[in-house]
Amino acid sequence: MTNQHKNKLSSAFAAVILAAGKGTRMRSGLPKVLHKLAGTPLVNHVLSAVAPLSPERLIVVVGQGSESVEKTVKAHSVAATCVLQSEQLGTGHAVNVAAPELANYSGHVLVLYGDTPLITTATLRTLCEASSTADVVVLGMHLDTPTGYGRLLQNAAGDLVGIVEEKDASDAQKTITLCNSGILMVRAASLFGWLSQLRPNNAAGEYYLTDIIGLAAAEGKQCRVVTAPAAELAGINTRAQLAQAEVALQDRLRARAMEQGATLIDPASIFLSADTQLGEDVVVHPHVVFGAHVVVEDGAEIRSFSHIEGAHIGRSAIVGPFARVRPGSVVGAAAHVGNFVELKNTQLGAGAKANHLSYVGDSIVGAGANIGAGTITCNYDGVNKHKTFIGEGAFIGSNSSLVAPVSIGAGARVGAGSVITENVPDGALALGRAHQVIKPKK
Ligand code: UD1
Ligand code: MG
Repeated sequence: MTNQHKNKLSSAFAAVILAAGKGTRMRSGLPKVLHKLAGTPLVNHVLSAVAPLSPERLIVVVGQGSESVEKTVKAHSVAATCVLQSEQLGTGHAVNVAAPELANYSGHVLVLYGDTPLITTATLRTLCEASSTADVVVLGMHLDTPTGYGRLLQNAAGDLVGIVEEKDASDAQKTITLCNSGILMVRAASLFGWLSQLRPNNAAGEYYLTDIIGLAAAEGKQCRVVTAPAAELAGINTRAQLAQAEVALQDRLRARAMEQGATLIDPASIFLSADTQLGEDVVVHPHVVFGAHVVVEDGAEIRSFSHIEGAHIGRSAIVGPFARVRPGSVVGAAAHVGNFVELKNTQLGAGAKANHLSYVGDSIVGAGANIGAGTITCNYDGVNKHKTFIGEGAFIGSNSSLVAPVSIGAGARVGAGSVITENVPDGALALGRAHQVIKPKK
């Protein structure tokens, strides 16, 4: 079955992601939805979760920090329209800001919150499918400590009859442990009808989206709860919740990497990005950090205390311990990058080795070349960056400085301690250092 078929839903829908709030409780200059989990902004996790379901319309409501939020949304591979909520008057008001975009839309609307990033595509699919059997479907979760969440009010038959926010709840209602995730699905026509009836007569003085449930139930509409694991529905309002969500997401990413055939020797000490791709039989030793955009091919070994970002690590390569591989780097098959070696925007050919104490930047290194301990490519002249070319099978003696732009030919050799400022032809030996002088003891 193709992904497209697997993901196809019986009914079309539009998705609206609320991302206009400041996130006061984060105490941050950064809009809440731009805080990151596994290296990716919160709002983009939500986009990634809903995108595979191919919504007909995808609308993000932006407000606080709207320019930067919009820029982040646009950087995601899925196409979304941003609409501006210039004053944050509550979640109900925020959804209503998307109304003009959905005028005449007759399908369902899926409302998502930009601060609820752990939601999975599978759970959203379940919610979408349930929406054919009720007028409103709300995604809920059972929490032992429900503090801070809206509580779902049910009648004896288990139908949803209202949602009460913590701030407005009676002591009895506060004991309810079935909580609102914020995520819900409802037909567009009904949704905007109810939203126009909202009033900010509550403790926060806001237009609550959650109040549509009471309105729907009063009209005799059927409102259902679909529950999902709390691990997917946690909302992020504080730095502590952000940290808890990071722990949960890292566990999920590690489990996925292991399912896909990587050995993580001490999973808890390995930090992955949302897009980290580890091939089969990759071995990752304890204490490794993968920044964004890293692919590690089958059989490679990443040893302890390495930091890798924006890089492609080839088959059976060995990286670390204590290696730093920076963006734009490609480590060839079976190449070695050893301790205290930094690669930046560098291609290391198959089987090439830079095993100790080197900086190799803006360089192309041929297959099988050996870069001796302490070699530095001097790629920056204070104004511009320049390239270094090292040919196949070249041997760079220890503690050499290669002053770019410079080219070392295939099979050439550079004597230890050289400062190389001129190109070295293929097969030649270059010595760029003072002759040793011996002055005998008098
Ligand atoms: C909300 C729900 C609560 C639920 C919880 C789940 C309401 C009234 N309450 O509370 O029942 O248990 O989420 O996490 O809906 N936003 C806007 N514009 C606004 C206000 C908010 O875009 O005017 C966005 C925020 O950026 C955020 C999301 O809506 O991404 C939720 O807002 P937030 O203030 O975090 O609501 P909670 O207090 O968490
Ligand atoms: Mg919230």
